[in-house]
Amino acid sequence: MTRLSVNLNKIALIRNSRGSNLPDLFQVAQDCERFGAQGITVHPRPDERHCKFSDLQPLKNSITSELNIEGYPDDHFMAQVIKVKPHQCTLVPDDPKQITSDHGWDTLKHADLLKERIAELKNNDIRVSIFIDPDRELIEGAAKAGADRIEFYTGPYAKEYPKNPEHAIHEIRETCIYAIAAGLGINAGHDLNLANLEYLKNNLARLDEVSIGHALICDALYYGLENTIRLYLNKLQ
Ligand code: PXP
Repeated sequence: MTRLSVNLNKIALIRNSRGSNLPDLFQVAQDCERFGAQGITVHPRPDERHCKFSDLQPLKNSITSELNIEGYPDDHFMAQVIKVKPHQCTLVPDDPKQITSDHGWDTLKHADLLKERIAELKNNDIRVSIFIDPDRELIEGAAKAGADRIEFYTGPYAKEYPKNPEHAIHEIRETCIYAIAAGLGINAGHDLNLANLEYLKNNLARLDEVSIGHALICDALYYGLENTIRLYLNKLQ
């Protein structure tokens, strides 16, 4: 089974644009669960332009499914995540000014940082996933650093998929088998949508979770949130 974790960054972004509580992030999170989502993801960035660090605890209190917090593991992020204790923390190598995540970790270059931060999170009973490009050596580095899972960065897959689906999936499919053999769970995310999700799911030997935000919230403008979540869940069956 592949779980759908809905990334609510864009809901927080709309809310922040007016300084009020509309849309209500916590209500939307509960509604996503009610409509069938098996998890909620947020990515508090240093500038808090989407989700704020102060959203994390009320968000965790509002939901009954899994909370996944993504972000760069600086000291502030680590302290906040350890305080809130989400089910999963996904470490992302983002620069503070980045518009969105556009690459995975160099798990060889940053082996010491990752090892230390992963151990800290795991000591607090938080499952750790590492955002990564589909590369054997980097996946081996993730396993050596102690990660529980990897999250494949699917931006390049999504870009290539309309032109050549087989070419788009090749590296992820092959390295997925390698990651499973290394004992890692498999997540995926970025630019996944109703057109490319089913092919990803059907071509991977294992896919524990996808986290989807931008396209899902855009689709919800047309289909409504409930229908949209059902459409995404259907693609994962
Ligand atoms: N995974 C990571 C690590 C991300 O940074 C993001 C975007 O916040 C996503 C998944 C979701 O990507 P998208 O919004 O394109 O669905």
